[in-house]
Amino acid sequence: MAWSSHRRIILTASAAFVVALASSIGALEPQTAATMRKPVPDTDEAKRREGQAIFRYDTFGDEQLWTDVLRMHEVVATVPPATALAVGLKVDVEALPAAVIDALKRGQVDLTNPAVTVELLRLNAVVGVRGTVSEGGELTRVGITCALCHSSVDDSFTKGIGKRMDGWANTDLNVGAIVALSPALDPATKAEFNAWGPGRYDPRHHAFDGTRIIPLNSPSIPVVLPPIYGLRNVGFETFTADGPISYWNSYVGVGQMGGHGNFRDPRIGLDIRQTPDLVTPKLDALLAYQLSLRSPAPPKGSFDPVAASRGERLFSGVAQCASCHKGPTFTDVDILNGPSPQVPFLHEPAEVGMDPRYAARSATGKYRTTPLRGLWQHAPYFHDGSAADLLAVVNHYDRLFALNLTPSQKADLVEYLKSL
Ligand code: HEC
Ligand code: HEC
Repeated sequence: MAWSSHRRIILTASAAFVVALASSIGALEPQTAATMRKPVPDTDEAKRREGQAIFRYDTFGDEQLWTDVLRMHEVVATVPPATALAVGLKVDVEALPAAVIDALKRGQVDLTNPAVTVELLRLNAVVGVRGTVSEGGELTRVGITCALCHSSVDDSFTKGIGKRMDGWANTDLNVGAIVALSPALDPATKAEFNAWGPGRYDPRHHAFDGTRIIPLNSPSIPVVLPPIYGLRNVGFETFTADGPISYWNSYVGVGQMGGHGNFRDPRIGLDIRQTPDLVTPKLDALLAYQLSLRSPAPPKGSFDPVAASRGERLFSGVAQCASCHKGPTFTDVDILNGPSPQVPFLHEPAEVGMDPRYAARSATGKYRTTPLRGLWQHAPYFHDGSAADLLAVVNHYDRLFALNLTPSQKADLVEYLKSL
């Protein structure tokens, strides 16, 4: 279908929602984008760019899961953009033609019309979702990319619509609610996924082998979607340090996203083989891109610097945090502090007062000291989101280690954590 007839669809109606949207334009400050630090200059720029394109746009052929098995294209075509935004999907404003941006500003885009969703997919403007649209305007295939869970937007246009911020945890993305729309899942599985809530996903519940969804662990234990910036010099990735970045990218790219490729780890009994392998050859560039993602600086005025410097002294002093969270990455598995590049230094769940069940499903059975970065960006905290805010984190350790911190010491520590 030609662009002009699409324009007819998206420009036809206007809704109350759109008016609200238009009036909020300009009300939101794009401060978050402005405070993002520049990429690290020493990575090979060509490789970084290649990795960026893979991270944002490559489905690795995972339409074999999202379309052929889960039939998500059937449901996505019936979802109004307002609903898509409400479950945390983001729109990349830079992918929108000027005419669409103008129409949005004038409140002439009907965000209750599912045809607009399909059009946004055709324009490749939905962050982390790729769609194939036929000449007749029908959505025939959908797949997902890494950016779905690990990118947000700066809300510079309006909430959920703005410039991409790769590496940011998409803390309001409700993956479970989205997948539960699949007509291919049974009611029990749908209920399980619907219970995850926003900003969470369970990468240990099942795996996809190219044909079938293989059950791995039950019941489901969702973990928070983490940010993936600030991982340079951190030796072992994931909450349980199963391996370095590329190990986990391969695990997720193949078994979770459903990409067409190989993944094998005898420690967790997985051996998936699919030829051609559309994942493995891309891991190198993908790694270069991830390592270039710097943690975003805290927004101006978001913490009290004087209290934070008192908090810093507590962090490495009486509160004993720095015995595990060692600078500059604030973990003890980084390339400077870790015992060896092959062996991660990990903690028994009881040692840090954590629920052991998720770790028990991993290759290590233990938890890695999370590298502290961009903490202001991605509440809740701990792998299971059991600490709603930073004061809850401090209270957890205060109880666990009987630190007896005073309320003002706790407040100072929180200010320091907000500054990281
Ligand atoms: C459906 C959501 C989802 C998608 C898509 C996804 N991830 Fe993740 N990712 C997660 C979750 C949840 C975790 C936390 C798992 C854990 O640590 O046990 C995670 C962890 C990570 C980590 C480790 C972060 C850390 O702090 O150590 C990296 C790196 C990562 N993902 C990169 C990627 C890349 C690259 C892709 C694409 C190949 C991708 N992810 C696709 C949900 C997702
Ligand atoms: C014995 C080692 C150890 C000590 C001491 C320690 N931590 Fe941790 N920290 C960890 C581990 C391990 C995790 C990961 C726990 C999980 O998510 O299951 C963690 C996670 C965190 C997180 C969550 C980060 C995120 O992105 O979710 C914060 C914040 C944190 N610690 C702050 C502190 C503070 C503040 C102190 C001092 C009061 C402290 N830690 C003391 C080992 C430690």
